[in-house]
Amino acid sequence: MTLDMTLTDTSWVLITGASSGFGEEFARQYAAQGHSLVLVARRLDRLQALAETLRQQHSIEVVTQQVDLSDIAAVTRLHQRLHEMGIEISTLINNAGHGLQGPFVDSTLDSTLAMLQLDVTSLTAVTHLFAQDMRTRGHGKILLVASLLAYQGVENFAVYAAAKAYVLRLGEALHRELKRDGVTVTTLCPGISETGFATAAQQKVTPVLKQLMMQPAPVVRTGIRALQAGRISVVPGWANKALVILTWATPRWLHQAFLSRAMNG
Ligand SMILES: NC(=O)c1ccc[n+]([C@@H]2O[C@H](COP(=O)([O-])OP(=O)(O)OC[C@H]3O[C@@H](n4cnc5c(N)ncnc54)[C@H](OP(=O)(O)O)[C@@H]3O)[C@@H](O)[C@H]2O)c1
Repeated sequence: MTLDMTLTDTSWVLITGASSGFGEEFARQYAAQGHSLVLVARRLDRLQALAETLRQQHSIEVVTQQVDLSDIAAVTRLHQRLHEMGIEISTLINNAGHGLQGPFVDSTLDSTLAMLQLDVTSLTAVTHLFAQDMRTRGHGKILLVASLLAYQGVENFAVYAAAKAYVLRLGEALHRELKRDGVTVTTLCPGISETGFATAAQQKVTPVLKQLMMQPAPVVRTGIRALQAGRISVVPGWANKALVILTWATPRWLHQAFLSRAMNG
């Protein structure tokens, strides 16, 4: 990666998982707002192609970083590299993640732990490193991408739903903890959306899920607005909001059974 421009812009947005899906859409929407971007993922060719398009369309600075976020040492090196380049991240979109569908005991232990490593451990490490910088500067914004599945355990998504419950709880606590330091933390809880997620998770898209499917653009727009407004968390889409209300209004066994049925057919 080469950087031959003067880095004067203080409104840098770092987006993890920017090579597809929500991450790519976050990049497009923040680029349209004129922000400078740091795009992170493993597939460098996709990041570079996106970066080139956004530079041409919006005359913004875009830095691409090929990082396997599962490797915590690589996360620390990324943080250090950006520091050395003089890039101060004012907004962090902690989005990279993947799912896994299937009976708990049939999934390999390796794939289960790899998912936890990315969705829980890496997300925590990235948040920790950049939140410290933001607290020192007295301002910053962090968006954590959880899931609608964070609201209940879901059959055949046991570890994924539990991991996303962790993300939501982490975000809620940090929202209050970091507020007094001038740092906003918002958690976005999308429902099923048309990204690369279902394929990567080997997820079956049931007829109910087809009805609930959202495009990435409105999901991302909702997330950015909620972060700007300093909200604690947000669920995009009316149908998804109704499902969350169901979890408040019904016994645990009932909404757990409903969501498990909807997710598995
Ligand atoms: N789509 C949905 O239905 C849905 C619903 C609720 C929540 N979510 C959440 O939304 C977030 C984004 O997913 P998506 O739907 O946009 O799926 P996606 O299109 O599959 O995007 C996942 C992104 O994460 C990156 N990533 C995966 N493993 C990585 C690693 N080890 N290191 C660095 N980057 C990695 C991928 O890039 P590379 O492969 O290039 O590394 C890709 O850019 C995830 O946290 C997911 O849990 C999705």
